[in-house]
Amino acid sequence: MSTTLPTPPVLSGGKGLLGHVKEFTNDRHALFHRGQQELGAIYTLKMPGQKIAVLNSPDYLKKLFEETDKSLSIEKGLKMFKPIFGEIGLIAGKETYQNQRPVIYESFKRKRMATHIQAMQIETTRWLKGLDAQGELVLQDHMITLTQQVATLAFFGKEFQNQVGPTFWEQFKILSDSLDLVLPGWLPLPKFRRRDKAKEVIVELVSDIIAERQKNANQYDDFLQTYIETPLVDGTHLSVRELAIHVISLAFAGHETTSIQAAWTMIQLLQNPEYLALVQREVDTHLPQGTVLTPDLLMKLEHVFWAVDETTRMRPSADMTQRVVEKELELGGFRIPKGWMIIAPSRNIQRMPELFSDPERYNPFRFAPGKEEHKLHPHSITGFGGNSHQCAGMYFARNEMATIVALMLQQYEWELVSDPQIDFRPGISQITESTLRYQKRKQPEQLVPFNAASYPTEVLAACPHLAQLAEAETREAVPM
Ligand code: HEM
Repeated sequence: MSTTLPTPPVLSGGKGLLGHVKEFTNDRHALFHRGQQELGAIYTLKMPGQKIAVLNSPDYLKKLFEETDKSLSIEKGLKMFKPIFGEIGLIAGKETYQNQRPVIYESFKRKRMATHIQAMQIETTRWLKGLDAQGELVLQDHMITLTQQVATLAFFGKEFQNQVGPTFWEQFKILSDSLDLVLPGWLPLPKFRRRDKAKEVIVELVSDIIAERQKNANQYDDFLQTYIETPLVDGTHLSVRELAIHVISLAFAGHETTSIQAAWTMIQLLQNPEYLALVQREVDTHLPQGTVLTPDLLMKLEHVFWAVDETTRMRPSADMTQRVVEKELELGGFRIPKGWMIIAPSRNIQRMPELFSDPERYNPFRFAPGKEEHKLHPHSITGFGGNSHQCAGMYFARNEMATIVALMLQQYEWELVSDPQIDFRPGISQITESTLRYQKRKQPEQLVPFNAASYPTEVLAACPHLAQLAEAETREAVPM
């Protein structure tokens, strides 16, 4: 490896001990945009005790994924999670991760999806039934609780939900609040002490459930049981403690990200009434009131899924990918030394005009057959990661977001009272408080007959379903 190459140029500003910390914390998307404008696809940020190379291009992102577990470490890039998870899953070293990988992938196999969708349907319906006929709610608060309930029922089962659910999620919040991007997790701070205590409470709760399942294995056949019974590559099994910590990691990976993107999907729909009308029509066609959502019906809701995907592009909760360099890397005529951190700002890449037409515009039709802009580059959308570490729960999460949106629209009319903003948290793009007004829909809803003239030409041209209907309408109007 050449050592004569320069390191990437340093972005302007970032003076003093804190470097670019303030800009990063306030609005990292704006910082990455400024970097791209000033220096292009690769540049350096300064943070206390840490140099960071930002890779602002899908080709470099491809390289980042290819080099993960080779010259790049995922484990060190996620070190703020280490005090909670220690040696499990992708937070572990690469050998341990490889050894445990079959358990993760066996449990996420497709055959469980129908049961998962049922859990999504049950919990979303339960939530909606608990609402008044009309009122106001803070969307993100409801999405958090709902996605927790879905994760508990789908992944860990009914007895877990009934016996330990509320305590589990109370203690889980303490773990989640303890995450800190800057302070080392071993410091003797009250929040870190609370974290360690909460972790032990959860481990004890979950261990009892696992012990019961190990004793009566033949009575269970679900996601958690697959986790318990699947052997590791070396032929051994996860210990009870390791299993309990995996449960915490699945809860971490599986609900907050989904809750944020589900909330944004609904909000972006409400901000784009023209597209919302098409989604509403689709829901009323395939899922009229009184119809129970099944996996087959869910798969018919194409406009809903395009909306979910457009929100993943525009408002990803996992807005950047990070790694630590273990072996010096050469990229774009620069060297990135060992010990540097690498960040690829997925959210900014997902808005590049080279990849997406009119990228700042909300346009779910870019995912429709015939357009499929996301297929132009294999790493144009990486809100669910990429390559060997791509999100194991991606299909689960997409189905969950689609279920939530579809059932919300089936049951209620919604109005946006306050627009939310992005709330930059360590490792995740959160959403600020947003209030929705709601009103129970009258039943049964009568589907308004299709009339091509009521749609703008560009919407008719973009939507393959409307185009078909318009063609049929013309055919019927022409005397044979
Ligand atoms: C909208 C929701 C979600 C988003 C945005 C999301 C995002 C991501 C991303 C970006 C990664 C890769 C991290 C990296 O390469 O550094 C990842 C990995 C992972 N996610 Fe998700 N995720 C979501 C939902 C879920 C759900 C519901 C689960 C289920 C528990 C889940 C489980 C996992 C697991 C197990 C991995 C590690 C895969 C591996 O390293 O082999 N995620 N997720």
